[in-house]
Amino acid sequence: MIGAGTIGSAIIRGVLDAGLGWSVVATGRKASTLRRIRRLGARVAESNRAAVEEADIAVLAVKPHQLPGVVEEIRGAAWGKVVVSVAAAVPLSWLAERLPGAHLVRAMPNINVVSRTSFTALAAEGVPRRARRLVEALFGALGVYEWVDERHMDALTALSGSGPAFLAEVLDALTLGGVAAGLPRELARKAALYTMLGTARTLLGNGMHPAELRDAVTTPAGTTIKGIMAIQALGAKKALIDAVLEATRRAAELRGAVEAPRA
Ligand SMILES: NC(=O)c1ccc[n+]([C@@H]2O[C@H](COP(=O)([O-])OP(=O)(O)OC[C@H]3O[C@@H](n4cnc5c(N)ncnc54)[C@H](OP(=O)(O)O)[C@@H]3O)[C@@H](O)[C@H]2O)c1
Repeated sequence: MIGAGTIGSAIIRGVLDAGLGWSVVATGRKASTLRRIRRLGARVAESNRAAVEEADIAVLAVKPHQLPGVVEEIRGAAWGKVVVSVAAAVPLSWLAERLPGAHLVRAMPNINVVSRTSFTALAAEGVPRRARRLVEALFGALGVYEWVDERHMDALTALSGSGPAFLAEVLDALTLGGVAAGLPRELARKAALYTMLGTARTLLGNGMHPAELRDAVTTPAGTTIKGIMAIQALGAKKALIDAVLEATRRAAELRGAVEAPRA
């Protein structure tokens, strides 16, 4: 793990919790990052290059602007290795130019790797089957994955990469709604969390369209329709559609900056 920050640490924890029997070697810069790596049960490597040299699969989890320095460091060591970049907005072509000979995979997981319930989008071109299997073993242990065309990565960065933040906002709003209606805060929080989890599980299980589920629980002149009317009137649904669109635009903007010719 090159860069044990927010997502890197979450992946380390998920991998070690999954019982794959893998050992993890990781890097960071600050003393606090190195302490966190050890606390998670991983080993600290001497350098990014040393970590990649001894790894079967290297995950690059630094910020996009930190990636140029990191790829420069690991260039020779990455030859013939499986290298997964989780950096938003950094295209496979950019990585391929700088890491020749590496089997490159671009991944967009989300923070739910920590509870091994991430939705992870994967993109690669011309990567051998063995390398794909290794990447699938990693992200399969951390939730569900889907191989996608790389052109969908900006939208998925928004929908599923940033999605936990959007849903956290929805959860916070529902919890506050419960508090406004007189519920103790902890009870409101628990009710909101399990309702979101259960709704996702029900929809995954029965394959229903969300609108079908909504209609099934909306009694004419009942309580639910009053809530739905408030959602419609205040444009809450449109706001969530726009959240995904705005985040997608930002991902494209960042990609543009990464792809811009170097001075
Ligand atoms: N956060 C998410 O939910 C999420 C989801 C999907 C994808 N991503 C992608 O994951 C990447 C990391 O995001 P993040 O939120 O985890 O950022 P972060 O918390 O800032 O983590 C980046 C880590 O990289 C380390 N680092 C920076 N330069 C390094 C270097 N030269 N050598 C070794 N380690 C280095 C930093 O260590 P120090 O702190 O010690 O400097 C830090 O621990 C981004 O590209 C982002 O697009 C994030």
